Amino acid sequence: MDGGGQVSRGGSQVGQTLGTNNLKLLTDSAFEELKSFSVDGILPDLKDVAPGSLQDVLDTKNSLYYQWLCCLMRVLKPKQIVELGGAMGTSALCMLSQLPEDAKLYSATLEEHGLEFSYIKTNYPQLTKIIGDDSDMSIWPGDLDWSKTDLLFIDAEHTADAVRRELEMYIPLIGEGKLVLMDDIKMEELWPVWLEIDKPKIDLSVLHHSGFERFYHEARA
Ligand SMILES: C[S@@+](CC[C@H](N)C(=O)[O-])C[C@H]1O[C@@H](n2cnc3c(N)ncnc32)[C@H](O)[C@@H]1O
Repeated sequence: MDGGGQVSRGGSQVGQTLGTNNLKLLTDSAFEELKSFSVDGILPDLKDVAPGSLQDVLDTKNSLYYQWLCCLMRVLKPKQIVELGGAMGTSALCMLSQLPEDAKLYSATLEEHGLEFSYIKTNYPQLTKIIGDDSDMSIWPGDLDWSKTDLLFIDAEHTADAVRRELEMYIPLIGEGKLVLMDDIKMEELWPVWLEIDKPKIDLSVLHHSGFERFYHEARA
């Protein structure tokens, strides 16, 4: 994979647009990376994560997606990520563990009585923490260049209205050919939203099996 969220094969760039084939290539490459991935390497990044959340990262049967997310960073090499629903910061830490210093991660989450991003005690130069409601565009830094976003990770309010709104608001901002990850989309309320998406998409249910939760991703062609 080339840097900047572009998919390449054998060193030659396939293109900036993530069509079905490139999406599959990217997904397969992350799974391949996972085969040799050792979680030990990210434990220093997770040192301030609460035991229950750390257990989720270690649990490769029910929530393999945390480790897969690390591997996705290695193959996608994103320069800019926007996360909707950062919560205490577990998924952000998994991504940050793999990001070079010049990459950017903008993570937004609702105010939660001081718990927001509370697992992130280390100073990561890549991270911009935003505490606010993602329905309000004024929460984002004025200098955020949306077009540079390689990955949009949607994991905020799990209602159909909220996810539809996020897709409508944010996909036009990041533009075509970008990777979008969506968590928990197999919840009864969210499944129709997933079915509505008419772009290349891959069901990654195997990565997140906790009750009704699944993990998917979708890419704009
Ligand atoms: C499932 S958790 C995110 C988990 C996190 N991505 C992880 O894996 O570590 C969902 C979070 O989204 C936040 N959230 C819900 N609605 C939101 C909104 N409109 N804007 C920003 N964050 C929101 C909640 O406060 C909650 O912390």
